[in-house]
Amino acid sequence: MAEPLRIALAGLGTVGAGLVRLAETNGGLIERRAGRPLRIVAVSARDRAKDRGVDLSPYDWEDDMTALAARADIDVVVELVGGADGPALTTARNALKAGKALVTANKAMIAHHGLELAELAENRGVALKFEAAVAGGVPVIKGLREGAAANRIERLYGILNGTCNYILSTMEATGRDFGDVLAEAQALGYAEADPTFDVEGVDAAHKLAILAAIAFGARIDFGAVDIAGIARVRAADIARAAALGYRIRLPGIADCAAGAGNDAGLFQRVQPCLVPRDHPLAAVEGPTNAVVAEGNFSGRLLFQGAGAGDGPTASAVAADLIDIARGDIGAPFSVPVAQLEPRAPADAGHRISRAYLRFTVTDRPGVLAEIATAMRDADVSIESLIQQGRPEEDGEVLVAMVTHEGPEAHVGKALRLLEGSPSLTEPPLVMQLLS
Ligand SMILES: NC(=O)c1ccc[n+]([C@@H]2O[C@H](COP(=O)([O-])OP(=O)(O)OC[C@H]3O[C@@H](n4cnc5c(N)ncnc54)[C@H](OP(=O)(O)O)[C@@H]3O)[C@@H](O)[C@H]2O)c1
Repeated sequence: MAEPLRIALAGLGTVGAGLVRLAETNGGLIERRAGRPLRIVAVSARDRAKDRGVDLSPYDWEDDMTALAARADIDVVVELVGGADGPALTTARNALKAGKALVTANKAMIAHHGLELAELAENRGVALKFEAAVAGGVPVIKGLREGAAANRIERLYGILNGTCNYILSTMEATGRDFGDVLAEAQALGYAEADPTFDVEGVDAAHKLAILAAIAFGARIDFGAVDIAGIARVRAADIARAAALGYRIRLPGIADCAAGAGNDAGLFQRVQPCLVPRDHPLAAVEGPTNAVVAEGNFSGRLLFQGAGAGDGPTASAVAADLIDIARGDIGAPFSVPVAQLEPRAPADAGHRISRAYLRFTVTDRPGVLAEIATAMRDADVSIESLIQQGRPEEDGEVLVAMVTHEGPEAHVGKALRLLEGSPSLTEPPLVMQLLS
């Protein structure tokens, strides 16, 4: 019989326990497809006594997960702890330095330390795989590295955070505001107790940076992602977008040469956008993830499915393990780290787009004229003033408008002209219209 692939599992939470369950349930078919058994040998987490709903008695327990890599009876370490640094990173470094393969679902760690880890893996000739780090069970990294490998990817965009998509689609369906829906999402387990990384767009930005590096052959540059979250989106914005034929979504967008006068800098942005109702991303509801990659020969590819959860995420981790069992090492970012290009961040000011602008203003005469003057002076042409809402109890009025196509820099200038105006009760909300 072929030698088993011997696995050490660091982290036995949602995904770790899911992987144990998957290995128990589908072990036979995995063995046939991998050509050899996948055998969990040792496990580690914080609390040995915790009931995780799976039988851990067949496996050795290690109190110190960072020591897993030193075991001679291990071929691969699976890191399912989380966090960009700390024990996850130490475990990952130890594994690769010891010449063990590493599989992880940790997008924060890969977004921040992916190049260092990939270099370690390449130097040691071992695999580093992280399919589960992006879009849970959806095989988008495999899709880009393998299925679309013959293409130049021209643009990539997707809904990469299920929590935000659940909140936005529920706000639309119910007319309720952000805070209310977030609280419900937390109660239902769709949002973390601390939802900051999700709702502020950081989690989606981690995933976008990883995908952009693979799609465009660029050195991963999380710091260059322009990030805005969804906390400032109001039910009123969603209603106005709907009246125009749009849905509000939080896409991550990356491309290499969009907009007049742009160089080949890498554009990466996570920001709420108005998506036309007939666009593939508009149909993505609830906690689902979807990624679109536009290849120069393949055309538009759509990857869609569950972006989180024990089953889908464990499925992606197991797929990486099967690849390793088959002997597929491959460069973690599709090309060796030394060949990834250091792309400068693109200048977003040159991008041509239409924008939705929402101002929250005091209810007094002259406010609209002040906004219109700033738009004129910045060369922003207003296509439609959607609605001037009735004053709320506190005398606040929402003024929303859509601009004609124009450089984003012009909108930026208009907003700078309005900065500090006593008429505005909070900073304007800007959302691009996705074309
Ligand atoms: N959950 C998802 O749907 C999902 C989807 C995609 C990617 N991911 C990624 O998968 C990874 C794991 O996520 P998860 O949801 O499974 O997390 P989780 O449920 O919080 O589990 C984390 C595990 O790591 C252990 N752990 C945490 N801190 C530790 C420390 N300082 N020392 C030792 N062990 C420690 C915990 O031990 P105890 O159990 O003993 O406390 C637990 O077993 C993360 O990188 C996450 O971003 C998760």
